[in-house]
Amino acid sequence: MTKLEKIICEVSRLASNMYRLGWDERNGGNISRIIDDDEIDGFIDVNDVKRTIPIAFDASQIAGKMFIVTGTGKYFKNVEIAPQTNLGIIRICPDGKNIDILWGYEDGSKPTSELPAHLMTHIERLKKDSQHKVVIHTHATNTLAMTYVHSLDEREFTKTLWQMCTECIVVFPDGVSVLPWMLCGNDEIGRKTAEKMRDTRLVVWAQHGIFGTGKSLDEAFGLIETVEKAAEIYIKIMNMPRINTITDEQLKLLANAFGVQVHEGYLD
Ligand code: 13P
Ligand code: ZN
Repeated sequence: MTKLEKIICEVSRLASNMYRLGWDERNGGNISRIIDDDEIDGFIDVNDVKRTIPIAFDASQIAGKMFIVTGTGKYFKNVEIAPQTNLGIIRICPDGKNIDILWGYEDGSKPTSELPAHLMTHIERLKKDSQHKVVIHTHATNTLAMTYVHSLDEREFTKTLWQMCTECIVVFPDGVSVLPWMLCGNDEIGRKTAEKMRDTRLVVWAQHGIFGTGKSLDEAFGLIETVEKAAEIYIKIMNMPRINTITDEQLKLLANAFGVQVHEGYLD
């Protein structure tokens, strides 16, 4: 198997996994992963452009970069069965206003409607971390539920999550950012999401879902999975009297023991 075939399998398996977790109903959710030049090893010909389509914002900062991206309207449950129609490999054109389709979307489809949020997030995360590679958006059930019943203040939201499982603060010491409800699938939500990605690797979209990022599919998924688990505990206990918790002192002990840099000002 070529490197690219392995990546296609990995993305497909992740989509199936997320579907089975119940996070990606119908066409809910989208995945994008940077493809490095050295990952193109014969499986596709980068000079063979299948189609070129416009995008509605300027991505010239990442011109030439290639990504594997889930298609718009595509069901996560089907990706593994037919990756060539549900996924595509795109390259940002030199003008930053068009994309070349190099592989996939074989039924004439195109990348996710959340492409602005994905590409703008890639741009911001790459500034922070040259190893960054992956953006995942999903409708993680309990995280979404939590946005109906919990304050959307980022410090309060993050601290509640940190209190729900001992290892949360170790996994996402930078915390989670939160956007209020906004219309999705456009540049505006993309820009706001990317702005938040300067400080955190996770952005919750209230009453919609979550964006997670990372150096690998595992890392981005693992971040979301950890938030979702904490949110599940919160939803389970929120209507019961809480008689124990993890204190700020204990959170500090964890941060020191594991050597992580906690979001400034979040612990008392
Ligand atoms: P797409 O089908 O365009 O990827 O949209 C799904 C989604 O989750 C929108 O936020
Ligand atoms: Zn969505």
